[in-house]
Amino acid sequence: MPVGRLTVCAHMALSFFTKNKKTLLARCRDDYATKMRLKYAPYYHAMEAQKGTTVRLDGRDMIMLSSNDYLGLSFHPKVIEAGRASLLKWGTSSTGARISNGSRAYHLELEEKLADFLGREACHVSVAGYISCLSSVASFAQKGDVILADKNIHSCLWDGIRLSMATVERFSHNSPDDLRAVIAATNSNATKLLVLEGVYSMEGHIARLPEISEIAEEHGCFTVLDDAHGFGVLGRQGRGTVDHFGLNDKVDVICGSMSKSLASTGGFVAASREVIEYLRTNSKQTVFSAAVSPSQAACAQASLELMQTEPQHLEKLWSNTKKYRGILKSLGLDTWESETPAVPIVLGSKERVYPFWKALLEKGVFTVMSIAPAVPAGKDLIRTAISAMHTDEQLEKIADAMAYAVKKL
Ligand SMILES: Cc1ncc(COP(=O)(O)O)c(C=O)c1O
Repeated sequence: MPVGRLTVCAHMALSFFTKNKKTLLARCRDDYATKMRLKYAPYYHAMEAQKGTTVRLDGRDMIMLSSNDYLGLSFHPKVIEAGRASLLKWGTSSTGARISNGSRAYHLELEEKLADFLGREACHVSVAGYISCLSSVASFAQKGDVILADKNIHSCLWDGIRLSMATVERFSHNSPDDLRAVIAATNSNATKLLVLEGVYSMEGHIARLPEISEIAEEHGCFTVLDDAHGFGVLGRQGRGTVDHFGLNDKVDVICGSMSKSLASTGGFVAASREVIEYLRTNSKQTVFSAAVSPSQAACAQASLELMQTEPQHLEKLWSNTKKYRGILKSLGLDTWESETPAVPIVLGSKERVYPFWKALLEKGVFTVMSIAPAVPAGKDLIRTAISAMHTDEQLEKIADAMAYAVKKL
């Protein structure tokens, strides 16, 4: 090809790629959701300080009413000390993936204790609950399998479903009847996986596990239950939703987060030994991602011990939840029949949610808005969560703030 034509071709190719890049940059610049978020600034607040359930925002102390520190252990002296001691002993980082750089004693110890607590043979921890729960689906299901999924499961489980390449069939939220109908319409020979949550994070509903697991068993489904919000909250000493119903033999995999009741960050998958070893071989999120850090593991392990030695935190969590639900009920607020410390305030539209959220903020109560499509249409809500660390005085302030916000509707 003559040099002149070559130059023209190269130029055309370059301008084609430049145009592609410009398209992408324009997508970022013009994105409507991002523009709205920056305009109204309802998310990504920069807190200046935190102590227990009090956070400082723009120089004002506020009551944190949307954290997932259910048992309030994130400021427990024993948890802090465990994190500190682990940093001194092991340094700051796990320095890589376990398949290549090796596990550390603190990984194995935490996994053994979690497995034991959950009545499982084995457990695997990873740097985020999101990764643990995603890989609990993606590692086991394959193309050709059928995944039966509750319509309201968390984003990490949907991502796991997508990565697995399996066919997905959704059933109505927490509806055994619909699950039965959906299963009846699927290929009876396909390998089936059932995916659900123990406690639904947005709604605060407890899974109807007795009926659902019976159907799963009838149809030979491998059952994966994400108990990020049930662990620490339900069951004996906080063993979670499966223990709450006494159905340990009916669920194959329990996954969850260490960022909620365990007052750390990270996630876990607990199951039989062969299932966990299969995950360690086949989960890309496990094979190619750095392991949990020393302090992350130590804080989670200390919290796990406290769950078994200091029952007062779980008791306080439930007495606070009862008082808080009473407050909301007396104001006629719709809590979507939440049964747990994750309590939504359903207001039905973003036009009602925003002023309510603003009014709470004005009165020193920090919450988070959740608007469709993050929640089903007509269910736009304020997500709140109670902690064992909320004091009676804080609950009184919350009651006053709620009454004020109701008047703003
Ligand atoms: C149900 C559920 N699963 C998994 C996760 C992910 O956990 P993490 O925040 O620890 O990554 C969350 C987080 O909110 C959750 O609500």
